[in-house]
Amino acid sequence: MKGKFITFEGCEGSGKSTQLRMLGEYLDGLGVDYVMTREPGGSAIAEEIRKIILSGKNAEMCDECEALLYAAARVQHLKEKIAPALESGKLVICDRYVYSSLAYQGYARGLGREYVESINNFALKEYPPYLTVFLDISPAEAFNRKHGADPDDRIEQLGLDFHCKVYEGYKKIAEDYPNFFAVDCLGTKYQTQEKIRALLKEKGAI
Ligand code: TYD
Repeated sequence: MKGKFITFEGCEGSGKSTQLRMLGEYLDGLGVDYVMTREPGGSAIAEEIRKIILSGKNAEMCDECEALLYAAARVQHLKEKIAPALESGKLVICDRYVYSSLAYQGYARGLGREYVESINNFALKEYPPYLTVFLDISPAEAFNRKHGADPDDRIEQLGLDFHCKVYEGYKKIAEDYPNFFAVDCLGTKYQTQEKIRALLKEKGAI
């Protein structure tokens, strides 16, 4: 792999999209040749799979099917877009990657880490990220900050429960994967962006 592969992770409301936009502006200013992409999706076929996964019509989808579809979208996106960009020496930045599957499907859905790792073997073995930035804010803090989630709202509480499991999953992943770095994002978006840039520089990613 000639280029470097950087991935971003975080719970809902962690400000990932804002941080990625700010990072893109910074890289543009530096004149870096990079590809910014996202999961699930990032290529025509993977975007089709994304629609199936996220569609409200597919409420009966079982957890295994969900995990396999994320893995299918991932391998297509990797082969079609990420790998060629890396081989040509570009920096690739991806909004979510295999660690989302470990946190959401492995931990929160309860499929287990081994199952999720096994169906994502290609991504984990052939294209492990050079570095992963985890935007570290708990779902409770994120809901308070962004949406003001109502503690008496049953649906929001159900949601919060699930997202807390996702967050716990990410914390375990951070212990096990050496290139997975948590960035505290309780400050302003500008402070968080500074931390991200400093981390990328310190680790030789940019
Ligand atoms: P998206 O609208 O892109 O959310 P976000 O802005 O938070 O990234 O929707 C992607 C959703 O898919 C998000 O809820 C996380 C989830 N997801 C998984 O459950 N497993 C995965 O492997 C990936 C890549 C995403």
